[in-house]
Amino acid sequence: MFKYLNHLVISKFVMAFSGAYLLLFITGHLIGNLQLFMGREPFNAYANFLQSIGEVLWAERIVLIIAAILHIITSIYLKLHNYKLRGEKYAVRKYVKAGLNSRTMIWTGLMILAFVIFHLLHFTFGVIDSKNYNYQELYTKNAYAISFAGDIEQANQQSMSMEALNPEPIVYERHDVYKMVIMDFRNPWVSLFYMIAVALLGVHISHSLQSAFQTLGISGPRFTRFIRPASIVYGFFIGGGFLIIPLSVLLGLIGGNI
Ligand code: HEM
Repeated sequence: MFKYLNHLVISKFVMAFSGAYLLLFITGHLIGNLQLFMGREPFNAYANFLQSIGEVLWAERIVLIIAAILHIITSIYLKLHNYKLRGEKYAVRKYVKAGLNSRTMIWTGLMILAFVIFHLLHFTFGVIDSKNYNYQELYTKNAYAISFAGDIEQANQQSMSMEALNPEPIVYERHDVYKMVIMDFRNPWVSLFYMIAVALLGVHISHSLQSAFQTLGISGPRFTRFIRPASIVYGFFIGGGFLIIPLSVLLGLIGGNI
């Protein structure tokens, strides 16, 4: 009996902490993506910076994958456990039912998982809608041009050649992630799909935050007064924050220069 309870408590904690990490990633991803509103150059600079930090990015991806797997396994374990309890009058039933809206959470969670698989095939691997995947943007490193100007005086004093001072090309090429996103979201079906998925994500987050706080033992009057509305606001921020991106592309508010 105690061993069984321990499994449940550990599962709920694993679920809460893996969920917290996933939420951290999603919040960072949202803030990064909102840079689409700043325009092509800043967004592509950000996207290419992420691609350039290879090992750090892979370390983050590995933790992300582990967190996602743990989150999925524990949610299925707890769901199966709940099904089992439905038939039996078990002593811990009340405890297990403490999770808010746990019935809908597993379904919104599975839909989000399906969305993430689609999303990776779409933007990360370029398998879906691949015609928009290979755009390149030409850019120049302004900082390099400025430091170059600063070096001229010193170079003149040392009688350096222009080639020695200017060994790198001034114009570079990088993946045009901005154009890829804009062109893809101009397809109303793609945008609609994303908008439904991120709305579900918002609902899932607001429910799961409330559930996680209960797991961590934060409940009672303080819970209903502060944590419940805060969870709803956070879910709304994430869902709404992602949703305005495809919506703004469809309305022509961003990407007009493409
Ligand atoms: C409007 C909404 C979104 C936009 C515009 C967007 C954009 C992108 C882009 C452009 C990439 C590829 C980055 C690159 O390889 O250059 C990406 C990767 C990714 N996105 Fe999103 N995303 C959105 C929503 C989401 C949501 C809601 C989730 C999670 C639920 C998510 C999870 C991921 C993951 C896991 C990756 C892979 C990260 C990696 O390769 O390290 N995205 N996203």
